[in-house]
Amino acid sequence: MRALPIVHRIADEPWPTREEAERSRLFSSVQLGPRVSRRRTWVPAMVPWRATEEGMVTQQVIDWYARFALAKPGVIVIEATGIRDVASGPLLRIGHDRFVEGLARLVAAVREASEGETLLFVQLIDFLAVRRRPDRAKYFARFLSVTREHRERLAALTGDETLLECDEARVRETLLALDDEGVRGVLTERERESLEYGYRERVTDMHLPHVRTLPEVLPSLFASAAQRAESAGFDGVELHYAHAYTMASFLSALNTRDDGYGASFEGRLRLPLEVLSRVRAAVSGHSVVGVRLLGDEVIEGGTRIRDASRFSVEFARGGAHFISVSKGGKFEDAKQPKVGGAVYPYTGPSGHECMPTVRSDERGPFGRNLGLSREIRAVLREGGLSVPVVGAGGINGFIMAERALEQGDCDVVASARQSLADPDWFAKVLRGEGATVRRCKFTNYCEGLDQHHKEVTCQLWDKIRPGDPEEPAHRVSADGRRRLVAP
Ligand SMILES: Cc1cc2nc3c(=O)[nH]c(=O)nc-3n(C[C@H](O)[C@H](O)[C@H](O)COP(=O)(O)O)c2cc1C
Ligand code: SF4
Repeated sequence: MRALPIVHRIADEPWPTREEAERSRLFSSVQLGPRVSRRRTWVPAMVPWRATEEGMVTQQVIDWYARFALAKPGVIVIEATGIRDVASGPLLRIGHDRFVEGLARLVAAVREASEGETLLFVQLIDFLAVRRRPDRAKYFARFLSVTREHRERLAALTGDETLLECDEARVRETLLALDDEGVRGVLTERERESLEYGYRERVTDMHLPHVRTLPEVLPSLFASAAQRAESAGFDGVELHYAHAYTMASFLSALNTRDDGYGASFEGRLRLPLEVLSRVRAAVSGHSVVGVRLLGDEVIEGGTRIRDASRFSVEFARGGAHFISVSKGGKFEDAKQPKVGGAVYPYTGPSGHECMPTVRSDERGPFGRNLGLSREIRAVLREGGLSVPVVGAGGINGFIMAERALEQGDCDVVASARQSLADPDWFAKVLRGEGATVRRCKFTNYCEGLDQHHKEVTCQLWDKIRPGDPEEPAHRVSADGRRRLVAP
């Protein structure tokens, strides 16, 4: 990754008085399709890794969201929640009716904590298989399918013609004995990637039946998930069309599918638009249906703001009640994981743009991605579309949030890490007590935990002493050292 030489400070800033906050845009209401959010404050989706291995809601999940709800932000979006009924580790799931009961308890807890003032959406996600980086010996012994081409390249490389016909075990042994350059000469680019990063499916893997048929299965999977969200009592859903996952990969300029669901602008848009339409049709007129997409994929050959703006126009015309704008967070430029680890889409330059840190370039992390939401909003308004736009990325104070609304950078201000650092920050600002806000350091301790699928916490919350009687056991991380809920 490129060097990011400048370390930015979290600047002290003046905070509004109670009266100023009450009069502000940030604390004014905004229409989101059929519902009104009482404020323009928004806690975007953040996976805290607190569900059971089966994807069920736990008391820790409830505690986590109820804590955010105490400050009554306008909207909380529940973490990326899987729409399929397949094992996905401790990530929330909504792919079967048995998940509804737990989700309904979560909704009830948020309603109670916010006294009904916060709208609660759930982010619906689909993703493809990503496997851990294999051990080299295991890869050559078990994972690689040996082909005629491998034999031919190996025979040419070693001058040993018997490799063309010998038993497969000898081919595998010969491959294992090669140096890196030799391996590069024999494996295809995808095989090399599987060896060096771990196997990862793409939406363009048309030889895989379950990938080829995604356009047939996804609309109904998303629609059923949205119906379950409505039965659980959510106020709406956010379709996850951002970052490294299936729907973002359909929108991506790298999507070269030749079945009408890729290649051209219209082709890339087709499935996301079909999903949106099926979801809108599946829920009642009271449910909010929004889209989160990337204003820029950041990766080489990826989608840029021009296409993202046109996508947003089509989603708005297709009935999206809000457009939430994110940036980057892709697999394509992620760092190589250690053997046994999985590639994580927030480790490369695109990941840095998604969750910018204080170690940055001249522009720094603060409000860094507002240019994208501003551009998208301007194009929507030019097209006569009034759909609200949610901006995010390094927004950590009242002045910045208020200025973003004033300048038309966005209509709603999402703060992920600042809300994690101090879930009360909106309430403190509204009470005129902004000076007591615990400011996020933007050094991504939390994101490091997310990367390793550990319960996400903030470095600014008190460290727990083992056996601390003040913290009930269920509110302490598995290693016994971190608070699971902000103090
Ligand atoms: C721990 C963690 C988990 C996240 N999980 C999600 C997620 O599930 N879905 C999503 O769209 N974004 C996710 N994000 C990205 C945030 O929603 C947000 O876009 C990003 O952190 C930038 O905003 P910020 O600067 O206010 O933190 C996550 C961020 C963090 C820190
Ligand atoms: S861990 Fe660091 S980056 Fe994450 S919320 Fe806390 S202070 Fe911010």
